Amino acid sequence: MVHGGAGALDNVTNEAEAVRYLEAMRVVLDHGRHILELGGSALEAVEQCAALLEDDPLFNAGAGSVLNEEGRVEMDAAIMCGQTLNAGSVAGVRNIANPIQLARVVLAESEHVMLIGEGAMRFADLHGFERVADHYFLTPDRIAQWEKAHRDHRMGLDHDCEEQMPDLRNDKFGTIGAVAKDSKGNLAAATSTGGIVNKRFGRVGDSPIVGAGVYADNSTCAVSCTGFGEDFLRVALAKTLSDIIEFTGAEGKAAAERGIDYLSTKVNGRGGFIMIDHDGRCCSAFTTKRMIHGWIERGGETVCRF
Ligand code: GLY
Repeated sequence: MVHGGAGALDNVTNEAEAVRYLEAMRVVLDHGRHILELGGSALEAVEQCAALLEDDPLFNAGAGSVLNEEGRVEMDAAIMCGQTLNAGSVAGVRNIANPIQLARVVLAESEHVMLIGEGAMRFADLHGFERVADHYFLTPDRIAQWEKAHRDHRMGLDHDCEEQMPDLRNDKFGTIGAVAKDSKGNLAAATSTGGIVNKRFGRVGDSPIVGAGVYADNSTCAVSCTGFGEDFLRVALAKTLSDIIEFTGAEGKAAAERGIDYLSTKVNGRGGFIMIDHDGRCCSAFTTKRMIHGWIERGGETVCRF
């Protein structure tokens, strides 16, 4: 399963734009299918799918990251292996084309789970990550979006909500994420984002926080969240979904319903998630008008929605 963010998506005003989003999802899902069919691991599949989404300026991660209050990009990403519960995470990183790949190296090569800011950047240098120039991220769309937000002293979410950001409703946003189950039964999850538009310097959302924006455990599920990070942080939504399955024995779909209800009731949370449960069932839920997402359940048809 993959997602490209939640929100009103009022920016998708015509058929051609909708097709662009859906086609982007489909290409990434088919790439993930290919990896898994060749016997690749769930971890490999989610990393590669997330990296492809980071490369697409349509989405708010990697190349398409939104700008912070200083007009700069600071990105967060995390990846988790459901077999070992090993996780790797980076927050507040700059000038890295694929933060999800850096998170994977944190998982594989460091004794830590999370590295932030300058420390994460030094770790990236040590592991041979190239620093890409600022202009890689500074697309005309992102600059115009930031200028509006900065002028109006507003912060905004993935894909935006008209009532929350009336002046930004036509702009493009979107955290990205991927979850997978491989032929050995292992689950994995990845989430990557530029955060929210015009966010404070140093602000970290839910995406790189294990248990909030990402979680994977072979005995329960793999989850990737999208939406207002602060809401997901407050209820540790990804781990809550896993706990619902762990402690009640609920199936994925029932757990997804309880989880989205919990997000709404506790914090009036705005956003959604994708989830694959331990039996390979693909589930999703969101409180926003839309969420761009897609799935391939047990090797079946590729389905994309928003
Ligand atoms: N969910 C992404 C963020 O709030 O940063």
